[in-house]
Amino acid sequence: MKKTLTAAIVASGLLFTMGSTTVFAGEKVASLRGAYDIKAESLKPTKKKVVSQEGGFERSYKQQPPMIPHKIDKYRITLKNNGCMKCHDEKNYKKEKAPLVGESHFISRDGKKLDHISSRRYFCNQCHAPQVDAKPLVENEFAGLK
Ligand code: HEC
Ligand code: HEC
Repeated sequence: MKKTLTAAIVASGLLFTMGSTTVFAGEKVASLRGAYDIKAESLKPTKKKVVSQEGGFERSYKQQPPMIPHKIDKYRITLKNNGCMKCHDEKNYKKEKAPLVGESHFISRDGKKLDHISSRRYFCNQCHAPQVDAKPLVENEFAGLK
């Protein structure tokens, strides 16, 4: 009932009050959290430089998918082709001086060893991510295994 009423007032573009906050339809959005300025909420994301780390990033725990220590914006993963496997496949990794994908990446869901990347591991970015030098958004006290 109250929601319908609020919606009706916003739609007519009138000035109204919710709690003690004045809300102008079009500039601020009234929600359960109070009035929100749409423009202030949608700051332009800053573009950060991807960190290249020779030798890779240290892993924080066993079974962690290692972080990607290089840029990836040029490597496409499509239905027909996986750009990452140009360097990380069994055929190419030595020539490209890249680490071979983990053995687990060739195991099918029935536990069979395949001669190509398993479909379970096809979309590399599902688990592996490059890193940027950014300030953490929240404090984090996670301590990795040594
Ligand atoms: C042009 C070759 C090339 C391509 C293409 C490439 N990589 Fe790499 N990748 C490397 C090399 C070389 C290293 C090792 C860098 C080092 O350790 O200094 C590496 C390292 C990595 C590592 C770190 C492994 C570890 O044990 O720390 C991951 C994860 C990775 N790549 C994932 C990817 C993903 C995902 C893609 C596709 C989006 C990709 N790579 C595409 C060459 C490549
Ligand atoms: C479902 C999650 C997942 C996906 C998808 C995935 N990986 Fe991994 N990857 C892991 C995990 C977990 C490890 C570490 C344990 C292992 O080797 O299985 C790993 C290890 C690696 C390593 C290091 C191997 C080593 O022996 O040090 C490389 C390189 C790598 N992955 C590349 C890739 C590439 C390239 C793709 C896409 C073709 C990919 N991964 C897809 C989870 C994943």
